[in-house]
Formats: sequence, C-alpha cells, structure tokens
Amino acid sequence: MSGKIRDYEGRHIIVRYDGKRCIHAEECVKGLPEVFDPDRKPWISPEAGAANQVAEVVSRCPTGALHFQRKDGGPAEILPEANTIAVARDGPLYARGDIHIARANGEVLLEDTRIALCRCGTSSNKPYCDGRHTQAAFSDPGAVNKAGDAVDDFHAGGKLTIVPALNGPLLLQGAVEIRSADGTATFRGQKAALCRCGASKNKPFCDGSHKTIRFSAD
Ligand code: SF4
Ligand code: FES
Repeated sequence: MSGKIRDYEGRHIIVRYDGKRCIHAEECVKGLPEVFDPDRKPWISPEAGAANQVAEVVSRCPTGALHFQRKDGGPAEILPEANTIAVARDGPLYARGDIHIARANGEVLLEDTRIALCRCGTSSNKPYCDGRHTQAAFSDPGAVNKAGDAVDDFHAGGKLTIVPALNGPLLLQGAVEIRSADGTATFRGQKAALCRCGASKNKPFCDGSHKTIRFSAD
C-alpha cells in the first residue's frame, strides 16, 4: 500500500484507493479478504469479488480512503440521510454524510461521504487523520461532553460544512449528530466547534485550550 491515489480496475467496478487517508482500520481486509489483501500485489483485486459486495465493503471504509465507480450500471454509494460524527476512543472523528471540507473563504477543499478527522493534533495530513494518534499515545474515552448550542427541533439532512480554523478548532455548520464512542451520548445541532488540538477538557468540543498550548495548524 502506498501514499498515492490509485485505481484498481475490474470488469464491473473500479476501486480507487488514497493511501494518504488510509489508517489501516482494516474494514476492507476483514470484510472481503479475497479482494483486499495487503500481502499481495496488487493488494486490491476487484475481480475476486462480486461488484455489489466490493461496493458494500468499500462503503464501509471509515476514512474515505476507498471509493468505487461502477462500470456495470450498478448503484452508486448511497448518501446517508443524516450527517453523523462518531468520536472514536483514542482516535479520530469519523464523519459520514454530505461532508464538505472548506476554507474560511468558502473554497471547498474536499467533498466526501466518509472522512476521518484528526483530533489529537499530531497528523501530518491535517485536517485528516493519518493514524499518528497511535504513536502519540492519544488517550480519550470518546465521550460527548457539554456543548452550548445543541437544539431540540433538530432536522437531519443537508450538507455539513467543516472549516478547520487557523490554529484552532473544526467549525461545523449544518445539521449533524455527534455520537460518543460507547453510543450512549449524542449531540444534535446545526453548529459546533470541535477540538482538533487534543487539549480540550470538554471533548469533543473546543474549550479554547488550543491557545494555551499554542496549537499551530493552517
Ligand atoms: S477500510 Fe479504509 S482505512 Fe481501513 S484499511 Fe481499508 S482502506 Fe484503509
Ligand atoms: S482546538 Fe482543541 S481546544 Fe480548541
């Protein structure tokens, strides 16, 4: 597996792999080992599985490192009805839905249905997770603590824009449900600022600690 974006073409489906966004969560390897085998070259062999199965397993990839394109007229990836962010224990924020990563001036940098976002502050591919939370021994149970602007009349749907603030948090705009790692706590709202420096005492929300630790990220 390399850091480049590569297409693996079968007769019915093309699998695209972005090595920079793979953090070896191994949903693919566990889901269809005959298609995804890191010990083989090439490591992805779309012909080794039915196109529907390959598409289903690709759609499980939590980081967006894998995508597919059907050549046989089969269905494209289904967009989830609601935007969700799952807080991983000792790991990243897994965003799913109609996700747009944008600069403060509105320029969209990435549109995707699945993205893993760094929340420990050490990724060299910010705002995306590159797996460094493991080396950094990032430790956090993945609880959803208190936030000021959760709303009761929450309506799911629409796009979720995430703007990584200069030296600061991830600014969320759009309907989103944030789930704790153990599934017991949920935030539903239209706006939130999520910690990406690793220092907040109110994770996953920003509490301003990025200034104290002089977090630096563009
Ligand atoms: S599921 Fe995605 S992140 Fe996990 S190993 Fe496969 S490609 Fe990498
Ligand atoms: S980004 Fe971590 S506390 Fe603000």
